[in-house]
Amino acid sequence: MKLKIAVLAGDGIGPEISREGVKVLNAVARKFGHEFTYQSALCGAAAIDAVGDPFPDETFQLCQQSDAVFFSAVGDPKFDNDPSAKVRPEQGLLAMRKKLGLFANIRPIQTFDCLIHMSPLKDEVVKGADFVCIRELTGGMYFGAKHEDDDMAYDTDIYSRPEIERILKVGFDYALKRNHHLTVVDKANVLASSRLWRKIAKEMEPKYPEVKVDYMYVDNASMRMIMEPRFFDVMVTENTFGDILTDEGSAVTGSMGLLPSASVGSSTPVFEPVHGSWPQAKGLNIANPLAQILSAAMLLEHFDLKAEGALIRKAVQASLDQNVRTPEIQVTGGAKYGTREVGQWIADYISKS
Ligand code: IPM
Ligand code: MN
Repeated sequence: MKLKIAVLAGDGIGPEISREGVKVLNAVARKFGHEFTYQSALCGAAAIDAVGDPFPDETFQLCQQSDAVFFSAVGDPKFDNDPSAKVRPEQGLLAMRKKLGLFANIRPIQTFDCLIHMSPLKDEVVKGADFVCIRELTGGMYFGAKHEDDDMAYDTDIYSRPEIERILKVGFDYALKRNHHLTVVDKANVLASSRLWRKIAKEMEPKYPEVKVDYMYVDNASMRMIMEPRFFDVMVTENTFGDILTDEGSAVTGSMGLLPSASVGSSTPVFEPVHGSWPQAKGLNIANPLAQILSAAMLLEHFDLKAEGALIRKAVQASLDQNVRTPEIQVTGGAKYGTREVGQWIADYISKS
């Protein structure tokens, strides 16, 4: 298969983990006889510094002309500490989501047995937890009408029927591919927008008789996620709730730096780690490349390259089992591996298998 991949490495540790992700994609291409071509473009703080725009038009054009976007991370503390900054790196991410119509963000929350001891939860609670959060990504408070002055500010949690229907459909379809259990997370006891979500979900239910659907308020869902994370199979929720719940989800598994994601919609899909740009680690060769590498697996699986995706997952598992790990997950006394060494080990594993 031929794939044109736009590489948006972004800020902080972004370029380092991006390089390892591409290395792994290349190993897969060689092994399976695919032709992947890459073109890089600026985004985030790097783009603000270069051209004053966190998602320049040139980058947008490249994304549109590509089959997939391989994204890393954006964010730089120099903007966080400057409330007067007119543009922020995060706006680049939001612009990309909106302009590419990426309405569905798919975040698998997976545990790795060998890392379970890193979870803040008891092993017996979290072991085997494995669910997917489908987060709506182009609507709700993030993009609704806003106002901000010194005395008053508001954001509008607005959702239209078509927006809700298309994201719920992604949720139902995902549940069909997995264990046929969908949890619709909302705040229908308080929010009008949530009541419309619930109404539409109930209307759609009869079309999916094989899917068991339950409805859960977001406050309850956040509690359930730490009390009984194995309860969930697929959850679907609005933009803001999904933002919050997926951070919680990544923390409960103990695999925070290991979670990939896919964002899909009307144009080019984007594959990226759930974690951020970790500016303090920039250039130190200590960032974990696994979330980026697993995002490469999601990219390939999106194009139905199942064996290729599976081989990446197998290589990642093998690296963990053999303690080829970056410092934050290394066992005490184990050999030290950096970002590059872990990426290289996984690429070699793929080439040799
Ligand atoms: C995420 C991030 C973004 C979000 C930020 C960086 C704008 O937290 O992808 O979850 O809030 O969506
Ligand atoms: Mn977030």
